[in-house]
Amino acid sequence: MEPKDIIAQLSALKEQFESGLVQVTDEQAIRAHQAAFLGAKGAVTTLSRMIKDVPPEARPEVGRVFNAAKKEISAAVAAAIEQSRLAREQQDLTQHVDLTLPGRIPQGIGQLHPLTIVMYDIVDIFTAMGFDVATGPEIETDYYNFEALNFPPLHPARDMQDTLFIKEGHTLLRTHTSPVQIRTMLSRPLPIQIIAPGAVYRRDDDPTHSPMFVQIEGLLVDQGVSFGHLKGVLEAFLNEVFGEDVALRLRPSFFPFTEPSAEVDIQCISCRGSGCRLCSQTGWLEILGCGMVDPNVLEGVGIDPERYTGFAFGLGIDRIAMLRYEGITSIKLFYENDPRFLSCFTR
Ligand code: PHE
Repeated sequence: MEPKDIIAQLSALKEQFESGLVQVTDEQAIRAHQAAFLGAKGAVTTLSRMIKDVPPEARPEVGRVFNAAKKEISAAVAAAIEQSRLAREQQDLTQHVDLTLPGRIPQGIGQLHPLTIVMYDIVDIFTAMGFDVATGPEIETDYYNFEALNFPPLHPARDMQDTLFIKEGHTLLRTHTSPVQIRTMLSRPLPIQIIAPGAVYRRDDDPTHSPMFVQIEGLLVDQGVSFGHLKGVLEAFLNEVFGEDVALRLRPSFFPFTEPSAEVDIQCISCRGSGCRLCSQTGWLEILGCGMVDPNVLEGVGIDPERYTGFAFGLGIDRIAMLRYEGITSIKLFYENDPRFLSCFTR
């Protein structure tokens, strides 16, 4: 066979390959098309067997032409495959990805934390009685947390045992919400009628005490405010939370910033007063601390104690929540934030 005939046949096959390649678009078809020319039984392979029939001196040149043609075909195949992949990717992006489909892991709807629920309920009760909500910082100074609240310099509550100091004798994590009393009296005009919910911190850690817990403070300052007003407000509040029939008891107590001071107990909601584990056999549960604002405190913030009197109270929201949702055995459950626990509560 003449070398030029073989080469002419080869270029005809190449043209055939090229015009066929533009007709196939998916990878599998491109590969099949390639095999039809370069495979063991492919047209180019079959034709290449005839090289041995050309005159020996022409063989190297014919061989080179074949190699070049095979290389070109392989390169065209690789380019076509790459293009087909890009096209499919583009198509996937524009047509097959539905960005509005929900994810595979089910996403629950968020809900209020049980302590937030109890806090909102308490805030609702007091705002209905005319109290306004006030707040203060959790990092406090010794002045607001202790000094302005009439804590004598060596009072045990200032001790490292209870207080988490940031800089001893200077900045600390507030141990109660009472500093908001001072901040409010220094910044708002009289009369004052506020509640202040928020986190507080103490060096305490056992099933009924967490190093962080949540309190709500109350303060009312006006002319003619009496202990009777305090008792009336607390009675209305506790009846709203624990029911009309719950018995209350006021016990004399001591706080540096109130005089007189009292602690309020409710009859045990579990045993109704006969004595059980919840109330340590006493029949009563300690609920809050309260009292008439100490004249020293009023004077310290520039309020004339001869003209104005006030009452204050403070209670632990965690404690109310533990009583309201019976069966909560540790205060820590409120702070571990296990979704299985949290999902048990709705407002
Ligand atoms: N701050 C007190 C405490 O944390 C509670 C309290 C507040 C008592 C207001 C009297 C008046 O124990």
